[in-house]
Amino acid sequence: MKETIESSLAEERVFEPSEDFKARANMNDPGIYRKAEEDFEGFWASVAEDIDWFEKWDKVFEWKPPHSKWFLNGSLNASYNCLDRHLSSKGDKTAIIWEGEMENNRTFTYDELYYSTCRFANALKELGVKKGDIVTIYLPMIPEAVIAMLACARIGAPHSVVFAGFSHEALAQRVEDAGSQFVITCDGYYHKGKLVDQKEKTDNALEKLDNIEHVLVVNHAANSVFFTEGRDVWWHDIEKQVDYDCPPEHMDSEDTLFLMYTSGTTGKPKGVVHSTGGYLVGTAITAKWVFDLKDDDVYWCTADVGWITGHSYIAYGPLLNGATVLMYEGAPDYPEKDRFWSIIENYGVTIFYTAPTAIRTFMKWGKQLPAKHDLSSLRLLGSVGEPINPKAWLWYYEHIGDKKCPIVDTWWQTETGMIMITPLPGITPMKPGSAVRPFPGIKVSILDEEGNAVPEGHGGYLAIKKPWPSMIRAIYGDEERFIETYWSMWGKDTYMSGDGAHTDSDGYVWILGRLDDVIKVSGHRLGTMEIESSLVAHSDVAEAAVEGKKDEIKGEVIVGYVVLETGASASDKLKEELRKHVADEIGPIARPADIIFADDLPKTRSGKIMRRVLRAITNNTDPGDVSTLQNPDVVEELKRKVNLSD
Ligand code: WTA
Repeated sequence: MKETIESSLAEERVFEPSEDFKARANMNDPGIYRKAEEDFEGFWASVAEDIDWFEKWDKVFEWKPPHSKWFLNGSLNASYNCLDRHLSSKGDKTAIIWEGEMENNRTFTYDELYYSTCRFANALKELGVKKGDIVTIYLPMIPEAVIAMLACARIGAPHSVVFAGFSHEALAQRVEDAGSQFVITCDGYYHKGKLVDQKEKTDNALEKLDNIEHVLVVNHAANSVFFTEGRDVWWHDIEKQVDYDCPPEHMDSEDTLFLMYTSGTTGKPKGVVHSTGGYLVGTAITAKWVFDLKDDDVYWCTADVGWITGHSYIAYGPLLNGATVLMYEGAPDYPEKDRFWSIIENYGVTIFYTAPTAIRTFMKWGKQLPAKHDLSSLRLLGSVGEPINPKAWLWYYEHIGDKKCPIVDTWWQTETGMIMITPLPGITPMKPGSAVRPFPGIKVSILDEEGNAVPEGHGGYLAIKKPWPSMIRAIYGDEERFIETYWSMWGKDTYMSGDGAHTDSDGYVWILGRLDDVIKVSGHRLGTMEIESSLVAHSDVAEAAVEGKKDEIKGEVIVGYVVLETGASASDKLKEELRKHVADEIGPIARPADIIFADDLPKTRSGKIMRRVLRAITNNTDPGDVSTLQNPDVVEELKRKVNLSD
């Protein structure tokens, strides 16, 4: 029987974490928010105590807008903090459980991770990598990706990890922009059972770059590869020649730990620069309080190490806390659509952090798949990367968390480095679809274009008013773009996130999505997220995306792309029903001009809907490079459908 159409925006229930959860939470003092506000500097100073410093800092921060420095004159090392300091108490504890797509697995204790990292670091030195050299890492989800990152950090060489699924052009662009002379890659890896020739992609990328000194190649897939004499080196060969004793470099707090390339609204990807001290302080404390990491937890973040989520919450945050981290190499539907649930069951995963897109996909596949597995080990769930609509939140809460796991909906960005707006699971009641409130010490404001705070209930630009330890330090090599992108809207002391948000009468923050995706219909501003949320609240809809289509009279009209639930069938009647549904829920102004039924939506390899492409399809313009899409074929299919409906 069809469920009645529910209104996503009418979801007003509040969910409390259990008393038991609260009592045991790493942070359960509601006064922490006030304390951090009253003594901003003292708060961050106390949090910085969780990190081991070779030389303690002498000043908490310095703010010369838009530039900040944190924990000035402190010296430390990221790999020391993730590894060495745990060895005396946790040497035998599992640090990484790696599950390969082909159901092979490997584990590393903290001792083993330490030795592997030191050897890797010595191998890099042997190849000539020096403190300050930027090393590009182009590895899939294998333990060596984390080991390589920690090895770079150990010797003071900033890493720049490029998502393994990116094309060779994308890699070349990033290697060139960073001026990397060293690249770490592998022979290949399996994705949904098919071999990806990573070494060939690397070779193609480096073909036109003439300053590459060495390529260090991890043997992962036993793929036969072409080797460039003198340039390419096998990790397993050099590993035998190097020692495992590698003292950590003493790094200044403000030394760069890594670059992470990310897309902006315009131009080519920009290298977001993160520092050492502030980044580690920010990721350590958020991992500890938001994910409530305990010694016996098995923590699983399904992001790829090639994105910021993987950096902060697969590698640095959890390892700084001495946690056991699960890493999965492959796809959620390989070999079957219940792969994630079988992993949770097999390893007794207790904390699970994933993206709304994934959750909505699981919904589409059906609740019978998680129901086949024992997921009772789970105690906390997380969401990141895009707004989670209440329907998906509730499904996650019920069918994965068995109504007992708090859900932390965490808002942050590549640029923020750490989680910025989130529930604290031992303190804050949750509302499905709200990221709740800023982390202690974070000052968020919702502003209009002139920089005035908007009243409660009104949408505005999500801005950050005070500096924070793990904030972006620079766009690599482009100071002008750094200022223009983030610090030009209201002045150099207010960070412009690019997202829209509003607060409710309880002060809860609701993220509306990127403002670059706002649609103006007859001068009225509508959030794509709002309309999408409404569409997916319809029981026949599994996934939806909305784009603005240029219209001579109204400026723009709304086109909704809809992926139906299994069992639902596309018809003109359903089209009308969905248009009316949106009009009824939000207002006639939001009624989509058209609904296109799609088999899939254009997505990045990390599962985000590629709006640029969808917008181009909608408006019959050139979608540009679609080679980095997860499913490039969908572009032609949608174009055809859009043209047919014109
Ligand atoms: C979006 C990912 C709503 C947002 C960590 C932001 C979210 C962009 C959430 C950054 C959330 C991330 N709710 N939207 N919980 N988390 N976003 O740099 O639009 O890949 O600006 O960092 O993702 O994406 P990025």
